This record gives sequence, C-alpha cells and structure tokens, in this order.
Amino acid sequence: MTIALDGHRAQPRLPGHWPAALSPEYLALIDVPTPYLVTDLDTLVSRYTRFSAALPGVSTFYAMKCNSTAEIVQTLHRHGAGFEVASIGELNALQALGVDPAEALYSNPIKPPAHVAAAHAAGLWRFGFDSPGELRKIAEYAPGSAVYLRLRVDDSTSVFPLSRKFGAELSGAYDLMLLARRLGLRPYGVTFHVGSQCANPSAWRQAIAAAGTLMRRLATAGIRLSMLNLGGGFPARYVSPVPSIEDIAGVIVGALDELLPYRPEVLAAEPGRHLVAETAVMATTVLGREVRAGENWLYVDVGAYNGLMETQQTVSGWRFPLWTSLPHHADEPCVPFTVTGPSCDSSDTMFYGVSLPDSLEVGDKLYIGSAGAYTLSYASAFNGFAPPTPLFVGEPGAGAR
Ligand SMILES: Cc1ncc(COP(=O)(O)O)c(C=O)c1O
Repeated sequence: MTIALDGHRAQPRLPGHWPAALSPEYLALIDVPTPYLVTDLDTLVSRYTRFSAALPGVSTFYAMKCNSTAEIVQTLHRHGAGFEVASIGELNALQALGVDPAEALYSNPIKPPAHVAAAHAAGLWRFGFDSPGELRKIAEYAPGSAVYLRLRVDDSTSVFPLSRKFGAELSGAYDLMLLARRLGLRPYGVTFHVGSQCANPSAWRQAIAAAGTLMRRLATAGIRLSMLNLGGGFPARYVSPVPSIEDIAGVIVGALDELLPYRPEVLAAEPGRHLVAETAVMATTVLGREVRAGENWLYVDVGAYNGLMETQQTVSGWRFPLWTSLPHHADEPCVPFTVTGPSCDSSDTMFYGVSLPDSLEVGDKLYIGSAGAYTLSYASAFNGFAPPTPLFVGEPGAGAR
C-alpha cells in the first residue's frame, strides 16, 4: 500500500541517516495498525543512484532475498537495476513484475534441479556454482548455460559471514572451470561474497586479488572470463558508523585497476542491505511493560520471528536505531530496557540493555530504524502474530496509489 501524507517536519535530533520522510511526526499521521514497515522509495532511489555513481561501469543486480516487495523491485527495475535470485520462486516474482529472466543472475551455489530447469526454460542463462556436483546438475538441467564460480573468500570482517556454507577454494577453482568447459557449459565469470554488512573495504581488495589470480591461470588454458561479480556485503548504517560507499568503491576501483590481468566486459555487484536497510522504519506498539528480576522489560508487537530475525544472528546481538512516539523523546530521561516480542517464546527477544525513555507506556510506539533489509523477508506468523504490513511513501512521479 502506498500512502501520501504532507506537512510533516523532521525532528532535529533523529539519527542523521533516518529518512526525513519517516520522522516520528510523519509516522504519527499513518492510520494503519502496527506492526508496519514503511519504506521511503525516494531514499531507495537515491541510495541506488549513489551506489551506481560510486562504482561506474558496475552493473547492479539487487539481491531479491533482502526484501522482495513489489514496490522495491519495481522501483529498482525502473531505474535500471538487474536482479540476483536464489530460487525459482524469486525468479517467478520478478517475471510477474515484468523483469526479463535474462536480466537476472542465479547466484545460489547449490540449487534444486527443478529450479535450474525452470529458470533455464524461462530464459535465465547465467548460473553460479562452487562444486563439481552443481556443475553436473547445471549441465543436465540447463545445458550450454554460462556459469560463474563462487570463490571462497575471507568474510571474517563482516557481521553476518557466509563463506563456511559456500565457496570453492582458489586452489580448486581452475579445475572446476575446466570441468565446466568439458561439460559443455560456458566458463563465464567469477564471484565472491565478503559477508553481509562488511565494513572493511580491504575485504573486497583481497577477494579481487583472488579473482585476478584465477583469471590469470585460466588465461593459460585459453579461457577469458566475461564477468567479475563483486557480490553483496556493502554495509548500511545501523547504530555505528560504517565507511561510505565512496570509500569502499575507491578501494574496489583501485583493486580492479591493479589486480586483474584484464577487465571483464561485465562488472557486477549484488547489493541487498546497502540499498534497502536505511530506507525503512518498522513501527511497533508497546503491549506491556514489566519489571522482571530487576530488569525493565518492554513487550512490543514485533519480535524476532515476525520481523527482527537478524537480532538473533550474531553472538552479541544486532542493534537497530530506536526512537519512540513520545513527543519529547530526545529530552526524556532514559533507563535500560530489554525489548521482547509478542510471542509466548522468550527467544523472540531482540534487544538487551537499550536506553529508552522511562516514561514509555502501553500503547506508545517504538520505531525501529534501518529496518528495510532482512526483516519482512524473514518474517513468519509464528504464534499467530502477522509480519509487519508493508507501506510505502515517495517514488518520484508515481503519486498516491
Ligand atoms: C549470493 C548473494 N548475493 C548477494 C547477497 C546480498 O548480500 P548483502 O545484503 O549483504 O548485500 C547475498 C546475501 O546473502 C547473497 O547470498
């Protein structure tokens, strides 16, 4: 649902990266029951534009898994982005929105055979892989396709590492590409993922160095790659500062110039979180406030299972910027709170020791910023609590729909 509201005024002390269009004064005008996740599509467009400008010549393939709501996909599609899918379900969703499967990359390294066959039949022609078994599968169900190898790279500097699950070692990558050729596939490219929310630009430099090594070895066998795919991992601002996309891009561009034997004709990136996290605010309502063993507990209508799963995915917890509907939020005396979800399960608790106004009461709203990535896409209706309703504001030229 897209809503149009005018006359709002940004609250001066909100975190700087909180979209002005989603200020608490503005959210107070939204007459929709919580929980909801409201996305500012204008912020999405400006983040996409800035990302593209920082990495000239790099084509964006937005990672669908991050947030696949139609409004986000359509907005990015209108502005020229391609897409990265992990399943036939994601590809079907793209097709329903008018995206040509030929514009998509299927980067999940281990895919169901039926999904490979269906994607191939739909016209998708580029498949990621990291093992001989997957190559044989692609050769059988998508014969003649272009394949790109997912290298295992160091993701230890990211908040959400991925490489233990995926990635071929550099030492075996050359043989895998030769196997691809023997199987009648087209050795098309190389990719990697430095881990999600990676704030260390040199992670990309090291990964590009590994890709360059592979490209050099393959050249000796007469194989010239057409694509270098930088993957995802570009960070978004939550609570702590992260390097700007320009800083990261500067390192990447330098590495591309210095560390590759040649420039493949397609340079790709698969950002997810960086494009959408900061575009959205999740609005929740305080359902209860209690003291348990001396701790202040706040019960709200979104928990880990219906929207905030990422709070469970790091050892020390993952924090989001928080604000409330209290008119003088910034001036209220604060106390530490444990913030938990609405279910009967204690493991849906999201935040420990967060500082929030002491005057919060049942019925007040807790606003969770930078909530556009890996929230809706993870959410279930566990215990009968529905995921947040997606709402949208902005989008140039679209008007109210
Ligand atoms: C293959 C692939 N590409 C891109 C992404 C997007 O990553 P991020 O949201 O960190 O940019 C992911 C996320 O898991 C992924 O698995």
